[in-house]
Amino acid sequence: MKKTFALIGAGNIGGTIAQLVLERGLGDVLLFDKNLGLAKGKALDLSQAYAGSAHAGSVSAAESYADLAGADAVIITAGLARKPGMTREELLAINADVMADIARGLADACPNVLTIVVTNPLDAMVWVFLKASGFDPNRVIGMASILDTWRFKFFLAELLGVNSADIHSHVIGAHGATMVPLISHTSVQGTPLMAWLKNTDPSKIERLKALVGRTRNAGAEIVEHLKRGSAYFAPANGALAMAQACLNDEKMVVSGSVMLNGEYGAHDICMSVPLVLGKNGVERIVQLALPEDEQAALLTSIKATAALINPLK
Ligand code: APR
Repeated sequence: MKKTFALIGAGNIGGTIAQLVLERGLGDVLLFDKNLGLAKGKALDLSQAYAGSAHAGSVSAAESYADLAGADAVIITAGLARKPGMTREELLAINADVMADIARGLADACPNVLTIVVTNPLDAMVWVFLKASGFDPNRVIGMASILDTWRFKFFLAELLGVNSADIHSHVIGAHGATMVPLISHTSVQGTPLMAWLKNTDPSKIERLKALVGRTRNAGAEIVEHLKRGSAYFAPANGALAMAQACLNDEKMVVSGSVMLNGEYGAHDICMSVPLVLGKNGVERIVQLALPEDEQAALLTSIKATAALINPLK
């Protein structure tokens, strides 16, 4: 059944999500941006782009939060994007105010609507949104680790010379420098990564460390190339995949940033962990047993996330 996607932020990621929704015939789009002209212009451009496509839904600009009432899912990309040399953390102060405003607007217009947060610094933004909106924590999910995992899989696929779709993995923890690609839970069609490397090409084991580093830096690598703005195709695809998993009750196993109250030893912070996503949003937080080195890396990530979020409390 066709759904209505409310996109808060009609910039690079919001505009790309809108196009994906229309291209794939997933439903209708409402574009909301503090720059109303941007939302109106993109809505017109997209409407005309798909005027000849019978399967495409409608797209229009929303002038107020009230216009978003009845949306099936909200995806938030509003805020400042990272500039070259700027860390996600430096974005915190600016985007926290934006997020709290949006949370209050949505709490009135569409209470408890399924919400995917994309704005950085991601984990802190999910936390701010939850506190300011009062939404059910199972209905608010940060999109980051699906993207970090895709990036890890892409680099690994290059290293191993296999199709990235044959690699299964989770990157958990903060969406930032301390994220933890779980080597222990990475496999090539069921064969654990380390066993695969030992059997096929042990010389590549050395290169794994650099690959983990490149994954942690993958967003910044793109920012450095672009000079203006940050990655948007992959974040758009990731956010839409998570929304669809919930709307279609896919029971998708994927990592996302959610409120943790004791899971993985984290308390009252949001951070990415493996989830099962279905019609109720977060249907389960999956607790994986981790080897000592990954547990230690996750603890570092928890501390970094807490340091970001605690001043906001
Ligand atoms: N309400 C609505 N829209 C807003 C608000 C607000 N309070 N503040 C900013 N915006 C809009 C801007 O007008 C802009 O159109 O958010 C949009 C952001 O778009 P881009 O600057 O193109 O940024 P984008 O690349 O889409 O990234 C958005 O996602 O991945 C993160 O780091 C990224 O935080 C950034 C966000």
